Amino acid sequence: MAPLEEVTGYVFRNAYHAYFYPFDKYFAPFVAAKEQKGRLFNYKERNDILPENNRGIILIPQILTNNSEAFIRTARGMQEYGYEEINLNLGCPSKTVVNGGRGSGFLQDREGLRKFLDKIFEQLDMKISIKTRLGRYDPEEIGPLMEIFNGYPLEELIIHPRVREDFYSGTPRLDAFSGAYEVRKAPLCYNGDIFTVEDLKRIEREFPQITAVMIGRGVLRHPGLTGQLHGKDLPEKSVWEAFAGQLRDEYVRISINEEKALFKLKEIWSYLRWSFPESNIWDRQMKVAGDLETFLYGMRNLLDTYDPEKIPEKRGIPGLHNR
Ligand SMILES: Cc1cc2nc3c(=O)[nH]c(=O)nc-3n(C[C@H](O)[C@H](O)[C@H](O)COP(=O)(O)O)c2cc1C
Repeated sequence: MAPLEEVTGYVFRNAYHAYFYPFDKYFAPFVAAKEQKGRLFNYKERNDILPENNRGIILIPQILTNNSEAFIRTARGMQEYGYEEINLNLGCPSKTVVNGGRGSGFLQDREGLRKFLDKIFEQLDMKISIKTRLGRYDPEEIGPLMEIFNGYPLEELIIHPRVREDFYSGTPRLDAFSGAYEVRKAPLCYNGDIFTVEDLKRIEREFPQITAVMIGRGVLRHPGLTGQLHGKDLPEKSVWEAFAGQLRDEYVRISINEEKALFKLKEIWSYLRWSFPESNIWDRQMKVAGDLETFLYGMRNLLDTYDPEKIPEKRGIPGLHNR
């Protein structure tokens, strides 16, 4: 499962894992490494990676930084929680992140990136994987970037074949991905726009040697997709009811008040609603709900429309907050 900040936190991951076809690995949304010494994780970041909140799943924490010392300190903090693999975020397109030379903004500083990787590989006794875009401005940047990545014993290289300037628009740039595929040394994982069985088949056909695919928005709008990809029928309504119930109970339990729980549930359901034929119930009863009770009433109405014979159409794939 791809990391999606504010969405695929531990509550969502656990509920998903309990009720839908499970992923082999779950990547946690990024922790921004703190440059000053002191507390490594804020309250939310710590909760998200605490082993007791992630029982029974393989979780790979992710770090966002261009500062090798901060990366090393944060990775060691994660190692103390028992994690053996850490993922470096070289994909985040958000303006503040990129302007700070982090995420996909780090991709344009290839000398800096090389020095950063030298240091972290030299000093850390952990598996390190990278999640990257093709470049900051131009998909051709992936050529020289692959020369850099190929110089290190990466546990896995995950490529989302867009450049930063694409954000989430257009379609993945498979030509440029193909260039990276040809020269890859590390196990290569494909990520981006897998929304249907056909989307996956195409990627597997064109790139038979990839070792994994990572899926984000595709399972948020259609959590039954992973089962479908493994030849299973869509889940029964009772599965959806139990899943929705767990999300509701857990967000209510961990939120400081009802308003926060409502906000969180709205965020999650803005994706999940696309699994239902009557998704306009979302617009009329859930999105506009002013309190939790009204929202949950709409949610039950939406769940009632569920039809396990109907595969969700390929729609509702917004650029999602421009992240
Ligand atoms: C709302 C949102 C939050 C995201 N947060 C992260 C993140 O924390 N770390 C990361 O590496 N990628 C993040 N991504 C990118 C996704 O992991 C993934 O690379 C991207 O959505 C493409 O895959 P998909 O088409 O399967 O969703 C985020 C994407 C979205 C839309």
